[in-house]
Amino acid sequence: MPILFLICVLLAQQTLAFPNQHRVNRELSPYLRAGRDARSGSYQIPNTVQNGTSKARFDVPTPETTLDAETLFNLDAPQIDPINSSVFDWWYFDAVSNTNPDDSLVIAFFTSSMDAFPFLDANEPSILNVWLWASFANGTHYEDSLPATVATVTGADGVEINSSGNWSPKGFSWNALTEDQLKYEIIIASEKLPVEGRLTLTSRAPYHLPCGIQAERSQLEIAPHIGWVNLIPDAVGEVDLKIHGSTLRFRGPGYHDKVVI
Ligand SMILES: *[C@@H]1O[C@H](CO)[C@@H](O)[C@H](O)[C@H]1NC(C)=O
Ligand SMILES: *[C@@H]1O[C@H](CO)[C@@H](O)[C@H](O)[C@H]1NC(C)=O
Ligand SMILES: *[C@@H]1O[C@H](CO)[C@@H](O)[C@H](O)[C@H]1NC(C)=O
Ligand SMILES: *[C@@H]1O[C@H](CO)[C@@H](O)[C@H](O)[C@H]1NC(C)=O
Repeated sequence: MPILFLICVLLAQQTLAFPNQHRVNRELSPYLRAGRDARSGSYQIPNTVQNGTSKARFDVPTPETTLDAETLFNLDAPQIDPINSSVFDWWYFDAVSNTNPDDSLVIAFFTSSMDAFPFLDANEPSILNVWLWASFANGTHYEDSLPATVATVTGADGVEINSSGNWSPKGFSWNALTEDQLKYEIIIASEKLPVEGRLTLTSRAPYHLPCGIQAERSQLEIAPHIGWVNLIPDAVGEVDLKIHGSTLRFRGPGYHDKVVI
């Protein structure tokens, strides 16, 4: 489970390395401010790390015990603002082949500095990076990342809008729908890497919050100062990608979560 690994690493990092650095303001109003366009329900996130105190949202209004599309996609919105050098948001998607577990794909969208997420590229000043890890049945691995100049994420309070993200202008985006099932499509069109194609996740398990859905407001905090929503614990994943001329095409279990630190 990638989340458990991530949380262990980050907890260790927080408690050992930066004991006092991370105090998130719990008094934050449910509305994050910077770069948010209330009418379109989207957030524009700049690619430079910001100075000063970040505010994080670790609970959301949940008027019903089942979430409507608006509340659901609000969980997928940025939950921290601004991105200073000790906080991050990420959106994580993966799939593994049914027939051969060596065929796999991971795509992660970051708003994070290297200080906040130590595995990132130390030479990359942009805090907007998309990472892609792919492995083929024959054992060939592929890993690369691209910086973006601006990220747009939708899924804002009070606006009926589907979750979407676009790390532009580099050709990485996702879009979500909820007709009968929650469904995500992650589209990659990068000449630079070069990678082109898509990952589709069609949910087949209910979304999951750290403490379930509570009356009126639900918690996102899974450990101190770590927010987590598991919008897709299990999915039918479909991958159809061309990576450096090699085709990666398979079906198998897929997953999506979002973490804020
Ligand atoms: C970033 O914001 C957090 C939360 O408010 C704060 O604890 C931390 O000191 C800030 N980091 C920097 C480098 O200013
Ligand atoms: C943050 O502070 C540093 C040092 O004071 C300054 O050089 C930099 O321009 C500031 N960045 C922003 C985004 O304000
Ligand atoms: C949002 O999702 C609904 C279904 O839940 C769909 O009908 C609609 O086309 C989607 N809108 C966009 C802009 O993708
Ligand atoms: C591994 O498989 C991919 C996809 O079929 C292929 O493009 C690549 O050349 C193979 N690598 C090796 C080392 O055989």
